[in-house]
Amino acid sequence: MKVIYFVAFIFQCISIVTGDTDDIEITPEEFFAVKNSLNFCGKVVLISGSSSGIGAATARLLSYLGAQVVITGRNETRVKEVADDCWHLSPHQIKPLGIALDLTIPGNVAILINETIKSYDKIDVLVNCAGIGLFANIQDPNFNDVYSQVRAINEEAHVEMTRLAAPYILNANGAIIFIASRLARNPTESTGAYSMAKNSLKAIAKTLAHDLGQNVRVNVISPGMVDGTRVFRLLPPSTRANSISTTIASTTLHRPAIPLDIAKAIVFLASPLSNYVDGKELQLDGGAFIPVF
Ligand SMILES: NC(=O)c1ccc[n+]([C@@H]2O[C@H](COP(=O)([O-])OP(=O)(O)OC[C@H]3O[C@@H](n4cnc5c(N)ncnc54)[C@H](OP(=O)(O)O)[C@@H]3O)[C@@H](O)[C@H]2O)c1
Ligand SMILES: *[C@@H]1O[C@H](CO)[C@@H](O)[C@H](O)[C@H]1NC(C)=O
Ligand SMILES: *[C@@H]1O[C@H](CO)[C@@H](O)[C@H](O)[C@H]1NC(C)=O
Repeated sequence: MKVIYFVAFIFQCISIVTGDTDDIEITPEEFFAVKNSLNFCGKVVLISGSSSGIGAATARLLSYLGAQVVITGRNETRVKEVADDCWHLSPHQIKPLGIALDLTIPGNVAILINETIKSYDKIDVLVNCAGIGLFANIQDPNFNDVYSQVRAINEEAHVEMTRLAAPYILNANGAIIFIASRLARNPTESTGAYSMAKNSLKAIAKTLAHDLGQNVRVNVISPGMVDGTRVFRLLPPSTRANSISTTIASTTLHRPAIPLDIAKAIVFLASPLSNYVDGKELQLDGGAFIPVF
């Protein structure tokens, strides 16, 4: 194999030197495929954490673009609300599958995958979005409790989802997208457990890009602060206000994200527009920088 690459490289060099640099033609079919990239008709997308926030915005957007989506979260009322919305947004009025369950309870991930296959017979795209924003200082007596709760949903559930969905994604030449966080690379006081779990997702995604081979793409999105999500609304009011003003001051776009900002990037990574993006982290943080002065 290496010899073939080397010979191809030499030929490429010769063609550059001899001025033979004609561009590769883009065919009409290829132009059309690009234009049609946002058509998700016939695609099955399983989104964990889609009863709220980023996952719900992603489910709504993908339904509008024609996808058959699976809506899931713990809260049955919210799962039903989002599923109803998706049904009405779907161009062909496809009724989504809605399943309320706690992904940290052993066996529930298998039930979710099985129900998805029973309804749709395949999975093209998996979006691992479920998560909680619980924080604790390592000196707090309840640190271990917070750590295990955070890991259970923010890390372990996603590994199990991906493990059980992998055969279907492979079969569909599909894509997997993880949602990490800016707090993975910039931890701050008391975010240790959350930051650790989110960093694991980045390592897992990069490993899977190798393990699942050339026909499946696996990528991670690391959002900064996303307003309008429950994770964010549940912060103590002073922490929330402080986070908004810090975000405004320390981003080049001078605003927090909204769920749709992140959903659009998920759609990009799920679509063939990103067909040469694999094993990468997309930092969606509004141009966050650490102030120098
Ligand atoms: N908001 C931010 O500023 C921010 C920034 C960076 C990264 N993130 C990440 O973005 C992802 C989405 O969060 P969000 O901001 O959109 O918050 P959100 O509105 O609270 O949504 C979280 C989702 O996860 C689900 N979920 C939580 N625990 C679950 C469990 N044990 N079993 C099944 N589902 C569970 C929730 O379902 P129920 O509510 O129905 O239980 C909900 O659908 C999370 O991974 C979060 O860490 C958020
Ligand atoms: C489920 O969500 C609904 C709508 O947001 C809310 O009124 C209800 O209290 C939630 N139930 C639980 C058990 O959290
Ligand atoms: C899921 O389906 C597989 C294969 O059909 C089966 O072996 C397994 O018992 C099912 N698991 C659950 C939890 O339904």
